[in-house]
Amino acid sequence: MTSDEIRQKFLRFFEKRGHAIIPSAPLVPSEEIGAVTSSQTLFTTAGMQPLIPYLLGKTHAAGTRLVDAQKCVRTGDIDDVGDNRHLTFFEMLGNWSLGDYFKREAIEWSFEFLTSKTEGLGLDPRRLYVTVFKGDGAIPRDEEAIAIWQEIFKKHNLSNGVAGDDERLAPGVRIIPLGVGDNFWIAGATGPCGGDTEMFYDTRPDGGEMKGKFGDFVDSFRLIEIWNDVFMEFNKTADGRYEPLETKNVDTGMGLERTTVVLNNKTSVFETDIFAPLLEKIRATTTREDTKAERIVADHIRAATFMIADGITPSNTDRGYILRRILRRAVRYADVLGLRATTLIDLVYVVVQKLSPTYHELKTKSEHIKKTIQQEEEKFRITLREGMREFKKREHEWTTTDASQKMVPGKTVFDLFQTYGFPVELTEELAREQDAIIDKDGFNRLMHEHQELSRAGAEKKFKGGLGDTSEMSVKYHTATHLLNAALREVLGPHVGQKGSNITPERLRFDFSNPEKLTDEQRKKVEELVNGWITEALPVTMREMPRTEAEKIAIHAFNEKYSDTVRVYSIGHEGNYISREFCGGPHVTNTSELGHFKIAKEEAVSAGVRRIKATLH
Ligand code: ALA
Repeated sequence: MTSDEIRQKFLRFFEKRGHAIIPSAPLVPSEEIGAVTSSQTLFTTAGMQPLIPYLLGKTHAAGTRLVDAQKCVRTGDIDDVGDNRHLTFFEMLGNWSLGDYFKREAIEWSFEFLTSKTEGLGLDPRRLYVTVFKGDGAIPRDEEAIAIWQEIFKKHNLSNGVAGDDERLAPGVRIIPLGVGDNFWIAGATGPCGGDTEMFYDTRPDGGEMKGKFGDFVDSFRLIEIWNDVFMEFNKTADGRYEPLETKNVDTGMGLERTTVVLNNKTSVFETDIFAPLLEKIRATTTREDTKAERIVADHIRAATFMIADGITPSNTDRGYILRRILRRAVRYADVLGLRATTLIDLVYVVVQKLSPTYHELKTKSEHIKKTIQQEEEKFRITLREGMREFKKREHEWTTTDASQKMVPGKTVFDLFQTYGFPVELTEELAREQDAIIDKDGFNRLMHEHQELSRAGAEKKFKGGLGDTSEMSVKYHTATHLLNAALREVLGPHVGQKGSNITPERLRFDFSNPEKLTDEQRKKVEELVNGWITEALPVTMREMPRTEAEKIAIHAFNEKYSDTVRVYSIGHEGNYISREFCGGPHVTNTSELGHFKIAKEEAVSAGVRRIKATLH
């Protein structure tokens, strides 16, 4: 089944069940959405986002049952594009109930659409697994969803066991209750939200009975999530309260690209009909084989085409900056492949041809898209030449590592990136030509700092300066320091920060560690952090010369490169549990944080783990 057929089937299935087909909203969220959400996203990232005012109670002209295919952009994982499933642009299929049906119909229709051979996708129901919300605090476990799923599975002679609190799969288990990190959905920090039920498909049923932790089978891509039904019952307010919504709503999201993979027994989105014509065009003029580069070019041109069609132009701020980054990466990888000069534009036409029947704006804007890409490419080629000169000029700044390896400082890599739009890979390659490496950690720290700043800017823009949520962010910031310290204590000093991302809703922390945390380690980390919170430790800041600070504190991100730096210490003098280079801000005492909980621990890449944690 092609992606076009899946999209059509989805729309028709729900149309037949009383849903009005609505067009996709643009990739740029409207002012109205910005005003009612504190979402830090610059783009539409989920089907529900343009519908937020209606999920909050506004009357929709098309009725109470809606269905659509929504264009989405998510660039948080842009560096992962090129593997088998990450994309910057994707389509999300969704059906909505605005105070109309609720859990029963939503779940029953999901099952029917997934498994029906006539009206749906005809997937093998024996290969389906579902997760449900385990509950959290005052919100109880979703017994209703569990009962509905059990009934459906029983009716189809399928096992319907429910996993225990250990989240383990075992023979007979098909329903897995998971916590707030997995099965509670909210876009950004505030707004409509609720527990959800997610549907997974076993892509390797010949791999034997699944026994063990559910998350491990997801991590190894044996189980692939294809659909999420969110039961929106609450509105999370800026001060962190969950107010019951006046009407109960359903928001669902099915990733079209992933579903196409699963349905065609493929292992990668790039092997589907969505990318085949793009890759074919690329391969026709490539002079060097490089699968990852081919995929990046294909994904990025597709994303850029849609972004430009929705009115975004390359610039140095916000959306324009992200578009610029995407385009420059595309040009760069086109060079890696040795593509003919006209190939990028040829690719635009392939995207337009394939998707304009669904997204008409592509057709009317195609000349404009082409011109924008050509102009940006020219500009990039000029800065590329200037950047090369700068790169050479700064050779005297290079350092030597302990292993006598020449190294380009992170600051140089960052400046080239910032001023000349040099992708990191490019600087890395230039360095390699001269037997040097780049200080990637240093670069990542500066990049992170930069992103935090732009995020803060974006958040402000969307929130109109609401102060109370930033208070939550400050708490999460301090909690991140505690987490870092606890990880080093439990796992060892090899733990280094690889990234961090804080929203008023949760913290996300990436760190180096070769393997998954055991349940015991995870528990220990939580206990340590909560112990420090209970101890009500003071958080203090001192400015000091960098050389002095380097002896006592670990590097976080800010201010690493000035001569005077700030060091934040947690604990009592002489007995600090954490000391980090950091620009702040932080709470003044750990007792302000509340209860710390790891919501999720997962792999980001080889040797790098990610923790999402919440405070309650
Ligand atoms: N809003 C839900 C999601 O994006 C359906 O996963």
